[in-house]
Amino acid sequence: MTEVDLESHRRDVAGELRADVRAGLTAEQKWLPPKWFYDAEGSELFEKITELPEYYPTRSEREVLAARAGDVARLTDAHTLVELGSGSSEKTRLLLDALTEHGTLESFVPLDVSESALAEAAEAIAADYPKLEVRGVVGDFTQHLNLLPGTSPRVVAFLGGTIGNFLPGERAMFLHSVREVLDEGEWLLLGTDLVKDRETLERAYDDAAGVTAAFNSNVLRVINSQLGANFDLDAFEHVSHWNAEDEWIEMWLRARREVTVDIPGADLQVHFAAGEHIRTEISAKFRRTGVEAELAAAGFAVERWWTDSKERFGVSLARSVRA
Ligand code: AVJ
Repeated sequence: MTEVDLESHRRDVAGELRADVRAGLTAEQKWLPPKWFYDAEGSELFEKITELPEYYPTRSEREVLAARAGDVARLTDAHTLVELGSGSSEKTRLLLDALTEHGTLESFVPLDVSESALAEAAEAIAADYPKLEVRGVVGDFTQHLNLLPGTSPRVVAFLGGTIGNFLPGERAMFLHSVREVLDEGEWLLLGTDLVKDRETLERAYDDAAGVTAAFNSNVLRVINSQLGANFDLDAFEHVSHWNAEDEWIEMWLRARREVTVDIPGADLQVHFAAGEHIRTEISAKFRRTGVEAELAAAGFAVERWWTDSKERFGVSLARSVRA
């Protein structure tokens, strides 16, 4: 088996979770950050989501990358591919194939919060691309962008539509921080799910097999195991809703009855009224004009905008310009 060195920037994971749980579950409107879905079990559930008939984004984005990976290689001459929130890095192979064939690629730097998903993906890729230097980074892409290894020109890929999990202000900060670590002329490859009819969107986040519901409540299981809490997973139901005004999907966990939960690791007892919600995720959907404007504001010029044949998902290739 190939050994891949993982560099970890996550020094106090339990402390970060404790702080997030304290902030989110003591708020007037309760919320939890989506990054805590992704322990080993949550990462596996997410992989299952990507195979569901209702969950189109993965397939739509794969269609775009399959058609355009060669263009990415030709336009960027990338020496380094950095992938943020890489998960299983499955779609990344389309890029790696095109970039290795093009002959410029030297290193691949996947960065993910899930150490288990990252280790598995990094090892599989190191085994299949023996000439590539693979340097996995365990970290949170909102905090650990500085010191990305690899020679220039670099392409930072942020795929899957994960940028939609940020609120608009967080999104602007994130794009600025990516621009800040890049040199002028380096690249961002950004995947954005697009605005479409309510039915398609809501079904993608509430599948018939219940996998998304299990993924959603996994955050409670993570809090139980990491902070010794006693959430009864059956006491909360999965809710997803298209917010047409803000143009994002909202995922919630709704208390089916009145519940009190002890969270000793966060020194907290939390009371839920029957019907009370915890917001666990937003997943914003985009339009081309909005993506271009947000990228321009952060110091990127969109050089290419590609969609799949059904125009469900957009991929932008943007170049860092003088800010
Ligand atoms: C991996 C963050 C892009 O927002 O669509 C899937 C996560 N949540 N089903 C998304 C998710 C519910 C997914 N991202």
